[in-house]
Amino acid sequence: MGKPLRKGVLIAFEGIDGAGKTSQVGLVSEWLRKSGYDVIAFKEPTKGVWGQKIREIAHYGRKGMSPQDELDLFIRDRKENVEQNIRPALEQCKLVLLDRYYFSTVAYQGALGIDPGEIRQLNEEFAPRPDLVILLDVSPRLGLSRIINGRDQFEKEEYLAKVQKIFTELEQPYIRRLDGSRSKEDVFKDIQNIIPDIVKPFERPT
Ligand code: TYD
Repeated sequence: MGKPLRKGVLIAFEGIDGAGKTSQVGLVSEWLRKSGYDVIAFKEPTKGVWGQKIREIAHYGRKGMSPQDELDLFIRDRKENVEQNIRPALEQCKLVLLDRYYFSTVAYQGALGIDPGEIRQLNEEFAPRPDLVILLDVSPRLGLSRIINGRDQFEKEEYLAKVQKIFTELEQPYIRRLDGSRSKEDVFKDIQNIIPDIVKPFERPT
């Protein structure tokens, strides 16, 4: 039985590397689809041209690229995702799940020294505000231990500590923080308690 919505609903999953976002997006989208919602999930960085450039840099290193140029790449990638995927899905009243969104840019590029408030403003000029952000909290050490590549571990841990600090300082009313150090199942249970309160008010009465 389908559950149509009166408007599109946007839910973003955020956190540092290894926080468990991708697993939760998978579990949540399957659960919501089975519950009858019209669900679609997108991931950033995307597989588009800008997203591919970003992955090259992640693979081969920054090679002297300035923080500003790096920010610019993430913004271009997101603009494309908003125009081609996110806005159209919201206009079709879908339930849209995002594996990373502009809070990642605020935290990761903010950790490179760009003002987090300015990054947020820049994004909010074109990116729709989410109805809910699930922020998965894990320590940089635990996050890194969950991802296989142990290269440059120390440097990465220091960087992620800065990223984490900015995530911790975000305080929008639509942000819900969860302890991501627990099992997938426990985190998922918490999310299952949060989402209905956000989505149900937008269900179309039948
Ligand atoms: P990630 O979600 O880890 O992709 P994958 O699972 O395919 O490796 O994202 C790749 C990296 O990009 C990650 O370290 C976080 C970073 N990132 C930013 O620095 N800024 C952003 O705006 C986004 C969306 C991601």
